[in-house]
Amino acid sequence: LPALAGRHFLKELDFTAEEFRGLIELAVELKAAKKARTETRSLTGRNIALIFEKTSTRTRCAFEVAAADQGASTTYLDPSGSQMGHKESVRDTARVLGRMFDAIEYRGDSQANVEELAAYAGVPVYNGLTDDWHPTQMLADVMTMTEHSDKPLTGIAFAYLGDARFNMGNSYLVTGALLGMDVRIVAPRSYWPAEEIVVHARKLAEISGARITLTEQVEEGVRGADFVATDVWVSMGEPKSVWDERIAALSPYAVTMDVLRATGNPDVKFLHCLPAFHDLGTKVGREIHESHGLDSLEVTDEVFESEHSVVFDEAENRLHTIKAVLVATLA
Ligand code: CP
Ligand code: NVA
Repeated sequence: LPALAGRHFLKELDFTAEEFRGLIELAVELKAAKKARTETRSLTGRNIALIFEKTSTRTRCAFEVAAADQGASTTYLDPSGSQMGHKESVRDTARVLGRMFDAIEYRGDSQANVEELAAYAGVPVYNGLTDDWHPTQMLADVMTMTEHSDKPLTGIAFAYLGDARFNMGNSYLVTGALLGMDVRIVAPRSYWPAEEIVVHARKLAEISGARITLTEQVEEGVRGADFVATDVWVSMGEPKSVWDERIAALSPYAVTMDVLRATGNPDVKFLHCLPAFHDLGTKVGREIHESHGLDSLEVTDEVFESEHSVVFDEAENRLHTIKAVLVATLA
């Protein structure tokens, strides 16, 4: 993918549909090579900074293992451990790290921060999640869809249920629109992506042939879907006080076995970027269980643990797709 050398990945639409698909093809090759133990290293001696202003399991580990597999080193700057945002500006941080590193990954709330890093670093910058977009996640999700469907991308229908105003909802909408897929956003109207994002997606759809549906009706939204996806109802950085409002608004959109049955597709697959509140045995989950008496939130344990669930393939594919981004932009 010579056209991607030196490029940033700040949001899905930084790439054309062809480039996006090319990254997935590269990820498929890299995955096969790793499994066959025939992977060759193309990033030996490169150094990558990983800035995390929010916590992470998958994204951090994917960048670290992908870099190590390819012979590159990483430096992890934890959510409180760098000067950035505390006593040093994003612009100055970008110019310092750009002198030391070959690329920079950034996770935080602000899309403006990752854009500013990219403007001043002089090296490729990757968005590891902001409040607006989660582009590396989209590569993994689309790769997982291709692995679990015999259809071409343009024949695949997927429905996203839940809070669609945030990173995952926005990213699913534009990615599906870019790639010509049948995208359904299923949520209360007040939880749909911002109007400007919907307008942009509709324009993309005119070119790609994508079908875009925004609906409040679960049965209509999921009918005929090949994949059903959801995300947490309260994202990182949001206050605990919004749980009541989210549970009230989004409970009808929880992914249950009835929702999967409503697709009419016995082979429907379930996606979730994770972490997921399918059981409430975690620290945060126990608090919600105690305060609201619920056993699950956005997805039931029954769905999560069922044969429909491909969430761990999706999680693994974070590694192969992030590696593809590193190889394509840096090798
Ligand atoms: N899906 C995802 O981005 O997971 P992490 O928050 O663990 O990186
Ligand atoms: N919407 C979630 C995604 C986590 C990967 C969040 O921002 O916390």
